[in-house]
Amino acid sequence: MKKHMIAATMAGLLAISMAGCAGDGAGGSGGNASSDTSGTVDKSSITIGVAMPTQTSTRWIADGNAVKEGLEKEGYKVDLQFAGDDIPTQTQQIDQMITKGEKLLIIASIDGTALTSQLQAAADAGIKVISYDRLIRDSPNVDFYVSFDNYKVGVAQATSLLYGLKLTDKDGKPAADAPAGPLNIELFAGSSDDNNAGFFFDGAMDTLQPYIDKGTLVVKSGQTDFAQAATLRWDQAVAQTRMENLLSANYGGNGEGLAGVLSPFDGISRGVITALQGVGMGPSLAEGLPVVTGQDAEIASVALIDQGVQWSTIFKDTRTLADQAITAASAYLAGDEPEANDTKTYDNGVKVVPSYLLPVITINKDDIQEQLIDSDYYTEAQVKAGQ
Ligand code: GAL
Repeated sequence: MKKHMIAATMAGLLAISMAGCAGDGAGGSGGNASSDTSGTVDKSSITIGVAMPTQTSTRWIADGNAVKEGLEKEGYKVDLQFAGDDIPTQTQQIDQMITKGEKLLIIASIDGTALTSQLQAAADAGIKVISYDRLIRDSPNVDFYVSFDNYKVGVAQATSLLYGLKLTDKDGKPAADAPAGPLNIELFAGSSDDNNAGFFFDGAMDTLQPYIDKGTLVVKSGQTDFAQAATLRWDQAVAQTRMENLLSANYGGNGEGLAGVLSPFDGISRGVITALQGVGMGPSLAEGLPVVTGQDAEIASVALIDQGVQWSTIFKDTRTLADQAITAASAYLAGDEPEANDTKTYDNGVKVVPSYLLPVITINKDDIQEQLIDSDYYTEAQVKAGQ
């Protein structure tokens, strides 16, 4: 973790110095707070509220820490809160941030539709709100959105499933010696109250549907609707139970004939894998474990990929996402507008929220060294230890 943190800090510093340059360019001599011509802005008097959903997933801990460290390096105070995946806890935390007079909020919501009154109170107090990775819905008071290209994440997950089933190459190009099928798969989606979950599932289904239409892929349970596949709160135990039920109802209780599982998140993947191994499958891919995808490159799943158990994950570099949030926050606090690279896709039900979307990388066993270890996201020791 230490190496990760140092890298996150360095990445943060880079973003800060870049933000400083951008501010100077756009705003002339008044580009950032410390060089404000009025000379009155003291960053250390500004607290930024950072609301993260949960600490049960290592990715959100990494996100929270990276945002906090980066903002503190820039001179701001930070109030970082995790809400234990409990909606009332998160609304209360945000209420308190507003009452305490915090100047800007960075929020990764639990239920994207549950924060309307908090965001109204923030707007009334002149507090800018940055929606972090998950879009906050049904509110005109979301100022900016930083995330990854969530539809493309779904495409990447499905493409990785096709690759694992030897139907395509890694880039999704049909394989010359592809099996004719039919190959049985099952589908998992994320939490239905998270705006991202629909994007992931849509991207995945648009990619898988042609194979389902041809009969090459068969969802034996018939559970192909988002609502049937959804996993409330992205919960590992919920996913494990659903997979166990799918196995007993459709695969003779021992998984026979199941070739792959679309999973949108590493926690769900680990629940699915536990269920598969629990009925005697595998325990590794080489020993017949079905192909299971994932997302977030959580260390526990990267270790499983390294061991040949989980097939893949989608790496979303939390350092770059934190950097974007810090860049956007710095722009607002300097009186500027953050730069968006997408102003069309993310309609939150009330308005299209200007967004900055980052690219993602698919990780198989062969990619761990270059993408995760060489980039200092994890050390080799962490990958071996799984923590
Ligand atoms: C989503 C996020 C994913 C994953 C999931 C579960 O909102 O985009 O990367 O982290 O939540 O935490």
